[in-house]
Amino acid sequence: LDIVVLAGGISHERDVSLRTGRRVADGLQSLGHRVTVLEPDGALLGYLRESRPDVVWPALHGSSGEDGALRALLELAGVPFVGSTTDAARLAWSKPAAKTVVARAGVSTPASVTLPKETFRELGANSVLDTVLAAFEVPLVVKPAHGGSAQGVTIVTVAGELPRAMVDAYTYADVALIERKVEGVEVSVAVLDTGDGPVALPPVEIEPLEGAYTFDARYNAGETRFYVPARLEPEVLHAVCAAATAAHSALGLRHLSRVDLIVDADGVPWFLEANVLPGLTETSIMPQAIAASGRDLGDVYATLAAAAIA
Ligand code: DAL
Ligand code: MG
Repeated sequence: LDIVVLAGGISHERDVSLRTGRRVADGLQSLGHRVTVLEPDGALLGYLRESRPDVVWPALHGSSGEDGALRALLELAGVPFVGSTTDAARLAWSKPAAKTVVARAGVSTPASVTLPKETFRELGANSVLDTVLAAFEVPLVVKPAHGGSAQGVTIVTVAGELPRAMVDAYTYADVALIERKVEGVEVSVAVLDTGDGPVALPPVEIEPLEGAYTFDARYNAGETRFYVPARLEPEVLHAVCAAATAAHSALGLRHLSRVDLIVDADGVPWFLEANVLPGLTETSIMPQAIAASGRDLGDVYATLAAAAIA
């Protein structure tokens, strides 16, 4: 096949995307596909119209890649592409919206509130603090309402640190999501969906060696320990997979996704978010899950490309 891999982009996860794109291209090339890796810019639409690739593999994370914008352009160009449609990507991109939809499908998700930057400005830090603490106790997790790779995410254990954490979140989005912190095992489930419904790959347990699964812990080899499959009872693993595929379906996702959850002490999986384009770098979770399932990375990337054309 003639495949265009799009990577890079103007998002906070640009470098991650370049790494993901290179790995996807390597996998596809190893099977003999003709791959062009391209940085999307204003000339993309014209380029696609001229070159008419069989399929586009958008390997962009974060804004433009996962928020639906680039996908809208591909839909406009009429080129088949791997991954979720514009509408589904936009829905999953908003963590608060995704939580609402997934909760409605019967999957637990931690209680949360959202607070726009403008409201913070109007109310002031003290009043924001009082309002949030009237409803929630620490520890809390503060995140940008959209974004990836844990950028702008803070675990707040001391109430007074909440405003500062919110300001950090506003670096990445105009709305902050403040979520109850569920204590438990952090797991991430890659989902493949290439024809016969979503299939959950073995859940990956994440154990950062120091503190949280931060940006650095994600992309520096050796800073996080992974267990595949997660060290959970078989029935809990089953519930985790069921929650992941339910979230994938409720959000209307396509081809691939990765659903992040916390499993509490009672074995209940709590939905945190779904990633429309999971990281596929050397240190990322989804390639580990693919390998653990006995599949070849190149094969999976090619199967996804074929599914996009079918
Ligand atoms: N947002 C990063 C790439 C991930 O979810 O893996
Ligand atoms: Mg994410």
